[in-house]
Amino acid sequence: MNSHILQIIYLIGSLSFIIGLKMLSKPNTARKGNLIAAFGMTIAIIGTIFLYEGIKTTNYIWIFGGLIIGSVLGTISAKKVQMTQMPEMVSLFNGMGGACAMLISVVEFNHLLHEYSFNSLPQGQVIIIMLGLIIGSISFIGSIVAWGKLSGKIGDLTLKIQQLINIGLLTIILALAVYISIFLPPNALTYFYIIWLLSAIYGILFVMPIGGADMPVVISLLNSFTGVAAAMGGFLYDNKVMLVGGILVGSAGTLLTVVMCKAMNRSLTNVLLGNFGGNSSSSSKSEALGNIQEINTGDTAILLKYASKVIIVPGYGLAVAQAQHVCHELEELLETQGVSVKYAIHPVAGRMPGHMNVLLAESNVSYDKLVEMENINPEFNTTDVVLVVGANDVVNPAAKTDPSSPIYGMPILDVENAKKIVVMKRSMKAGYAGIENMLFYQPKTSMLFGDAKNTLTKIIAEVKAL
Ligand code: TAP
Repeated sequence: MNSHILQIIYLIGSLSFIIGLKMLSKPNTARKGNLIAAFGMTIAIIGTIFLYEGIKTTNYIWIFGGLIIGSVLGTISAKKVQMTQMPEMVSLFNGMGGACAMLISVVEFNHLLHEYSFNSLPQGQVIIIMLGLIIGSISFIGSIVAWGKLSGKIGDLTLKIQQLINIGLLTIILALAVYISIFLPPNALTYFYIIWLLSAIYGILFVMPIGGADMPVVISLLNSFTGVAAAMGGFLYDNKVMLVGGILVGSAGTLLTVVMCKAMNRSLTNVLLGNFGGNSSSSSKSEALGNIQEINTGDTAILLKYASKVIIVPGYGLAVAQAQHVCHELEELLETQGVSVKYAIHPVAGRMPGHMNVLLAESNVSYDKLVEMENINPEFNTTDVVLVVGANDVVNPAAKTDPSSPIYGMPILDVENAKKIVVMKRSMKAGYAGIENMLFYQPKTSMLFGDAKNTLTKIIAEVKAL
């Protein structure tokens, strides 16, 4: 009876993951989607604890001890995290998922060795355990390294023959795993621990050379690894909710990785090999490119107040300056003065998927004001003023005009079609791609230098004073 109820709970849990994931694709339903999926996970965990026949009540103290410690730590870190540190937290949490999958393999391999004699080990289970161990270990250690790099605790390390070492290591790991799975040798446990160690080393070497700003793509890839490793656990325990959850994470992570690479117009190999970006611009180099026009906050306020349509283009600088609240304040102020204001959202603006959506949603910007690139691009030629707030690469015309540019082919926001462009940033320094932006030198463009939050605050005061 209990097992039937448990299967129904697993079915509800699986459905809630699918519905939750679907709802995550839109900002206005994302919060609810997250709660629905969390509900599904909660009932699956509680159902397993109380209804799964294999669990001894004497273990409850361990289970609930772990649940309480994990929940308290998770809640505190999620509440404390700054928006700019979100990729780090995602990476750390993803690493924990990889660690779980890895430990399941370690525990279950030891169980198998106690249950069966060497030559009668169930081959299917050994293969699944090996895959869970390898993928889980790479995901765990790789995510921890990614977290260390993003938080500045670990630097880049590229050995000259890095790719060769990585390929060699992966070949040895796979060869050993195949050897254990096919021949089930008496010293399988020793080989098992060697595979574990080598997979952990591979996790370090795989992530170490990747450029810091490429981390979101790698984290998404590691996320898909964790999903696949968890799905292995689902196979092992014949647990449907674990299987569905793992497959969903695995496929969502893979799709996200592909979408991010596509939006940056780069191949995954290019991201993993880390050879991206030009040299950061120096001011002397900038001078050779032409003259720029500067504007002050007073004149910007006049332009904005007397415009009928304004589009704000947020970018990574908005996140760095934590200017989302004051940006929303300016938008509301302009709207009360009869100006139509929208936000143009580029798919890879910022440093993580949905970065701008999350930031602006945090400051309560209405979701219908956030317009995706495909829909906003035709609107720029009827726009009076575009206010670029800390964005650079996502408005760089070189993506369309310069075949030698590293971002050539990346779809961009067509801001240059507007009547006037004001670019807010602190200096003439390049963005993530490390390249010059000719938009800054166009006659229609004016540069408003300074920290985005301070500058926006001054503009608000000036608009109010007009
Ligand atoms: P970027 O091209 O990186 O430009 C951001 C600009 O913000 C910089 O030029 C910087 O100029 C300015 N800035 C920084 N701090 C500021 C502050 N406090 N106040 C005002 N301005 C400030 O950003 P983007 O246009 O959003 O493009 C994103 C880039 O990241 C793309 O190349 C994309 O491919 C890449 N990327 C994105 C993702 C995802 S998933 N979103 C993942 C990996 C990589 P100053 O230093 O002069 O102020």
